[in-house]
Amino acid sequence: MLPTIEWRDDAIVMVDQRKLPKQERYVKCRTGAQVVRAIKTMVIRGAPAIGVAAAMGLAMGVVRSKAKGTTQLAAEFYKLCDLMAGTRPTAVNLFWAIDRMKQVFAAAVRAGHSVEEVAARLRHEAQVIHDEDVESCRTMGSYGASVVPDKARVLTHCNAGALATAGYGTALGVIRRAVEEGKRVAVFAGETRPFLQGARLTAWELVRDGIDTTVITDSMAGSLMRDGQIDLVIVGADRIAANGDVANKIGTYSVAVLARAHDLLFYVAAPTSTIDLATPDGAHIPIEERDAREVTHLGASQLAPDGAGIRNPAFDVTPSQYVSAIITERGVCRPPYADSLREVVAGALSEVSR
Ligand code: MRU
Repeated sequence: MLPTIEWRDDAIVMVDQRKLPKQERYVKCRTGAQVVRAIKTMVIRGAPAIGVAAAMGLAMGVVRSKAKGTTQLAAEFYKLCDLMAGTRPTAVNLFWAIDRMKQVFAAAVRAGHSVEEVAARLRHEAQVIHDEDVESCRTMGSYGASVVPDKARVLTHCNAGALATAGYGTALGVIRRAVEEGKRVAVFAGETRPFLQGARLTAWELVRDGIDTTVITDSMAGSLMRDGQIDLVIVGADRIAANGDVANKIGTYSVAVLARAHDLLFYVAAPTSTIDLATPDGAHIPIEERDAREVTHLGASQLAPDGAGIRNPAFDVTPSQYVSAIITERGVCRPPYADSLREVVAGALSEVSR
């Protein structure tokens, strides 16, 4: 399986996703601050992977600490939590993972553990978050594979694969599982302007797995749908609001509207850690605006003239009415999402929803 992120000896090792597909390079983070930077600069990206990286980074900060006692340690730890939370605003998995690490930290300090013992507990929790993520992708895949018929031609957007998680993937996990079950599946990967996660990352990992993959520019999706060349859409998510509105990579909304116009099913695959019941709807999801250079340039070469205004919102919101179902590791949520999402976060879905 693809090594997205792992704790190896004294370092957190991540494949540098900015360099793929041309180079398979690894970045080693030995401090919490280095992980903060890795998330910010997209060495690692994708909602669940960011959560795992944040958890490991917080643990690394405490493992490396020279604090004399837990009061000093707490000051350092909460400062690092704030830095981590300031990296990227949209993917809720980041905040979910930070909260989980804060709870473990507070419990360990309350129990009177030494600095070393607190560090050991945080490191263990980060590994649990990592392992749970792989497990949940696999379970999500087994729930989701049933929506993929034999000979399906599936359009996906961005990268919701092994690289965006601790392994296996969400949307691509569903596709992987369908292929493992013997179904013949062809994937269309939208290139995903401007950061090209679809062309660079989705295509790279699917080709590696021997899955039939065709890269298209984002603007080709509508025409392919009209010509009957796409059967369904599966994407991931960065945050799902309580009413089922879905924030995902910019361009997802357009694909959802096109899918509806062509009577195609539009599925979202995401772990329950991506569901944010505290956010009532998509209008309340913070959307990250990234550096204009990602739009004006392709590598070193400039595409847009100096002086032009540039927008670069990294995500958009797909209203819940365009979403046919949300596939999670606890079952498949269907409308009305206000009920099914609450149910799935509380535990498991009723048999009907499964
Ligand atoms: O900006 P990115 O690359 O972090 O955005 C990632 C996405 O939008 C993914 O589709 C999403 O995180 C789902 S990942 C399983």
